[in-house]
Amino acid sequence: MFYSLLKPFFFQCDPEHIHEFIIKVAHLGPQLGKLTGTNPSDKLSLKIGHLQWRSPVGLAAGLDKNAEALDFFSHQGFGALECGTITLKPQIGNPRPRMFRYIEEKSLRNSMGFPNHGLVTISSRLNHNFGLPIGANIGKNKDSTPDESLDELGTMVATLGDDVDYFVVNVSSPNTPGLRALQERGYLTELFSELKKLTSKDLFIKIAPDLEQDKIIELASLSHELKLTGLIATNTTIMPERGVGGISGKLLQQKASRVHEKILSLQLPLEVICVGGISHFDDIKSIWRMGGKAVQIYSAYVFEGPQLLKKINSEIIHFLNKHDISDLETFFSLPLEERIRLLDHP
Ligand SMILES: Cc1cc2nc3c(=O)[nH]c(=O)nc-3n(C[C@H](O)[C@H](O)[C@H](O)COP(=O)(O)O)c2cc1C
Repeated sequence: MFYSLLKPFFFQCDPEHIHEFIIKVAHLGPQLGKLTGTNPSDKLSLKIGHLQWRSPVGLAAGLDKNAEALDFFSHQGFGALECGTITLKPQIGNPRPRMFRYIEEKSLRNSMGFPNHGLVTISSRLNHNFGLPIGANIGKNKDSTPDESLDELGTMVATLGDDVDYFVVNVSSPNTPGLRALQERGYLTELFSELKKLTSKDLFIKIAPDLEQDKIIELASLSHELKLTGLIATNTTIMPERGVGGISGKLLQQKASRVHEKILSLQLPLEVICVGGISHFDDIKSIWRMGGKAVQIYSAYVFEGPQLLKKINSEIIHFLNKHDISDLETFFSLPLEERIRLLDHP
């Protein structure tokens, strides 16, 4: 309600300016998060890796890059929050403008290039309990070589280890030169062997939606071999005809969905956190039909505001009640065929 009244004004402003303004307001008034948000019912709680998410819908990386408004977002009805991408040294990112809206298509394009306040500043904002799992999405500084990035990522994991609940290594943003080339077996094996020595927290790789099928299978198998908790699939996609940067939202959904389907069909013992164009409970149901569990959202939250989480959470409760299922854990303890039968039931 609140958001739909303000949205016409927001959408007349430059996307990044309004984003910064909202993060500032959310930082100054975390109670506004409570006023406009919702608390997920205990029935929606779900174990993902070693963590208990408060609902199956997490906040995707990039929205609160600098962990300035996590208190606000902790009241919005998300199951877990991911800050970042954080780099070791602060950096300003690519030249502006670098965030664009496609309102009709409920999509965004960004070429941000990891602007962020850097490890030291961001870590000082993470050392308290937000009441739900907090993930740190980490990446390399723009000018670092792959060798240097191994040290950078190690330092970040060692420093943040007590303050966050899970880590995501971002090797899939299209806006940092050479980053996607790090989705390689040799590099990832060396990196995660080191990170495993530094933390026992859940580790994820975030992958691109633009990978060939063979590459998706290779990365999923490698994640299993390296005993990672799982994968976050996917980051934004490249569509050169739209301009530089990565596309998110509805225009990404089909590509992301193909990646979800491929990974989930492998039935590996990995958590696959699905992200890309999710905006309705029906989208989540499609992921559950493939065998998925948790999801993340960014773009749809920009277009719909806090109402989105209220709606999705209440639709999940309605679904559970309709089928007389006590909670989501019980639903996911059912065999996949049974889950599909319930999901397909009108
Ligand atoms: C403006 C913007 C900035 C983003 N920044 C990051 C980032 O720093 N790190 C990251 O891993 N993903 C980042 N993402 C990608 C999102 O986390 C997510 O993977 C992608 O937007 C797909 O989800 P969606 O369709 O729900 O938006 C960003 C997305 C947008 C729109």
